[in-house]
Amino acid sequence: MTREPGRDAPIGVFDSGLGGLTVAHAIMQQLPGESIVYVGDTARVPYGPKSPETVRRYSHEIADFLLHQGVKAIVVACNTATAHALPMLEQELDVPVIGVVKPGARAAAKGTRNGHIGVIGTAGTIRSGAYDAAIRAEAPDAMITSRACPLFVPLVEEGWVDREATWIVAREYLEPMLLASVDTLVLGCTHYPLLKGVIGEVIGRDVRLIDSAEETAGDTRRMLRENQLESGARRGTYRFIASDDPGQFLTLGQRFLGDAIEHVEVRPFG
Ligand code: DGL
Repeated sequence: MTREPGRDAPIGVFDSGLGGLTVAHAIMQQLPGESIVYVGDTARVPYGPKSPETVRRYSHEIADFLLHQGVKAIVVACNTATAHALPMLEQELDVPVIGVVKPGARAAAKGTRNGHIGVIGTAGTIRSGAYDAAIRAEAPDAMITSRACPLFVPLVEEGWVDREATWIVAREYLEPMLLASVDTLVLGCTHYPLLKGVIGEVIGRDVRLIDSAEETAGDTRRMLRENQLESGARRGTYRFIASDDPGQFLTLGQRFLGDAIEHVEVRPFG
């Protein structure tokens, strides 16, 4: 596609659902002049248990849609989509694209003192080995303990961020991390930053929790600067698009964004 979006064009941010709003929120905080078009594929969430091919197909469709909205860059806010589809998107898109895996992996490699790093994420993310590869690229000698924590996603979506059930699940999931004495834990899923309280308590307060959202916003800034795409606007504007029921987006979205969402457009995919 031959098109040249200007510096004030929006950034496209997409996720399998609402969780990527944690990344959008971090971008809004760190880059207040940037406009955002956010797509949450709420009709097809979760991506975590789906095959790499399916996640790549969904990611391709959404990226294509975002390009038609005139975005100047794309941030893949979903860890699972990043793990499966980022190399493909980097190859096929004419605009700069970044994901959430590299920023988180780099922060973990930098942050560890004893070289033991834990990674938690969806089944797809952990199975892909994307975090392991990205961490090893930064710290070849790191000892990595990975674990899929699929139950964390529905617990967060229920708003159960501090219930007994959540504590029980967290203790079970994080046991291998405790046994491996990790001193740094990558929260490799959009939803997990909302469980920082429980996870931090179970794993121990001295373990550094890496929130990919914050790191990714920092990388977004660098990416825009390198490509001379930083917006000159004082305040960005935001569009939120869901592929299914906007009601759920409006009620749950605030939990992830930390701010009220007033309007959600609906755009079915597939
Ligand atoms: N957004 C997904 C991720 O970060 C979590 C939810 C899902 O499984 O789709 O991996």
